[in-house]
Order: sequence, then structure tokens, then C-alpha cells
Amino acid sequence: MEHPPHTLAILGGTGNEGPGLALRWAEAGMTVLIGSRQVEKAQRVAEELNTRLGRPVIQGLDNEAAAQQGDVAVLTVPYAAQNALLESLRPTLQGKVLIAATVALQPPKVSQVYIPPEGSASEQAQALLGPDVRVVAAFQNVSAHLLEDLAHPVDCDVLICGDDKAAKVIAVELAEALGARGIDAGPLANAKAVEGLTSILIGINRRYKVPATGIRITGLP
Ligand SMILES: NC(=O)c1ccc[n+]([C@@H]2O[C@H](COP(=O)([O-])OP(=O)(O)OC[C@H]3O[C@@H](n4cnc5c(N)ncnc54)[C@H](OP(=O)(O)O)[C@@H]3O)[C@@H](O)[C@H]2O)c1
Repeated sequence: MEHPPHTLAILGGTGNEGPGLALRWAEAGMTVLIGSRQVEKAQRVAEELNTRLGRPVIQGLDNEAAAQQGDVAVLTVPYAAQNALLESLRPTLQGKVLIAATVALQPPKVSQVYIPPEGSASEQAQALLGPDVRVVAAFQNVSAHLLEDLAHPVDCDVLICGDDKAAKVIAVELAEALGARGIDAGPLANAKAVEGLTSILIGINRRYKVPATGIRITGLP
């Protein structure tokens, strides 16, 4: 499968979601940088993932260096950490595409939909970064547990919200690189519904005692 020659910088890529995405994208042949507040932590996680992949393809950097070297950034930090990190990276991210996988969750009630005053984490990111950063919301409903299990296909859909068509096409390609189906779900303002779905999925996982539910849209060709 052919993929666009993007260099992906996963900001906060050392937790759960970031390494899962990194693993799948690197496996698909994409260039992946893992970002962290601590370069040693990023290097350690990159090394672990490279061991799993059997080749040294993922590089660990601090968030600033990763954002600088990547042409597409992917944000995978907890909602509470998002604003401060983006504030510090705002100059570096200008002119780039930021794929926000962040979800506005309000602990401890993470299985209850929370709509912040800004609408969603993704809309908040766009407001903070300004119009020269093209923010796209995607991957909020794709479980880290599923991503990291390479034996299991990513058999869910990825709803993609954004105000820039070309940036959304990149997100669709990234979804396809995971093996998933990327679906244009409208403007960035719709991200509040997609982020809300994550809370619903967390609740379903708990009630049905399963690790990783996802969503799938029916009726499409
Ligand atoms: N987990 C999932 O299944 C899943 C699925 C879909 C979407 N998401 C969303 O993806 C995001 C990340 O989820 P996660 O489970 O991977 O989170 P996580 O493991 O709790 O955190 C991810 C990384 O964020 C960085 N971080 C934590 N606090 C920070 C702070 N105050 N400032 C800057 N960086 C900070 C840490 O990296 P360093 O210490 O290396 O800097 C950490 O490894 C969340 O918004 C979540 O809602 C998660």
C-alpha cells in the first residue's frame, strides 16, 4: 500500500494511544517521531517499539524537536495537558497540520459525555493555535488496546472532523494506514460529538467487560 511521504510527530507519544498509533504507522512504512517532555523517555519508548517491529524506524525526541521535524503532528496528551503543551509549541506548529486525538474528558466521570465551553478539545486546540495551523480531529474512538495488539486488525471506522479539506484527506490516509476506514464527518465543530462518543465507548467497555469497543458506520459503499 502506498502512503504519503509525511513525517509524523506524535506529541506526548509515550503513553497509551501514541505508541499504538506509532507502532501501526511505522509498520505501514511511515516515518514516525515520538515526542515527550523528556527526550530519554521518548527514546526509551521508541526503542521498545522498534524492538517489537524488529527494525529501528521510530525515533524519540522532545516534543519541540518532534514538532519541528514533523510536517504532520498528532496530539496524544491528556485533555488537561493539551493547552499548556500547545501554547509552548504554537510558533513551531504554524503552517502545519495537527491531528488531535485528544478527548475532552472530565475525570473521574470519564464515561459521561463532557462538552467544555469551547465545544471540544479539538476546537480548543484550533482556537489556541490560530488559523495557520490546520487542526483535524481524528482517532478519538480508536482504542490504544486495539492499536497495540498487532495481531488484531484495526477493524473500526475513524470519524474525521475539520475545516480544511486537504488536511482531512491526510487524516483519511493515516486512518487507512492503520488498516481502518477514515470517514469525513464534517467540520471541526462536529468534533464534540466524536469526542463524546469516546466517553460512551469507555462506559460500554466497562459495562460489557471488554477492552476495546469501537465504532462502525453502516450504509456506506
Ligand atoms: N488511551 C486510549 O485508548 C485513547 C483512545 C483514543 C483517544 N485517546 C486520547 O488520547 C490522549 C492520550 O491518551 P493516553 O491514554 O495515551 O494518555 P496518557 O498515557 O495518560 O498520556 C500520554 C502522554 O501525555 C504526556 N503528558 C502527560 N501529562 C502531561 C503534561 N502535563 N504536559 C505535557 N505532556 C503530558 C506524557 O508524555 P511524557 O511524560 O513523555 O511527556 C504521557 O505519556 C487523551 O487525550 C485521550 O483521551 C486515548
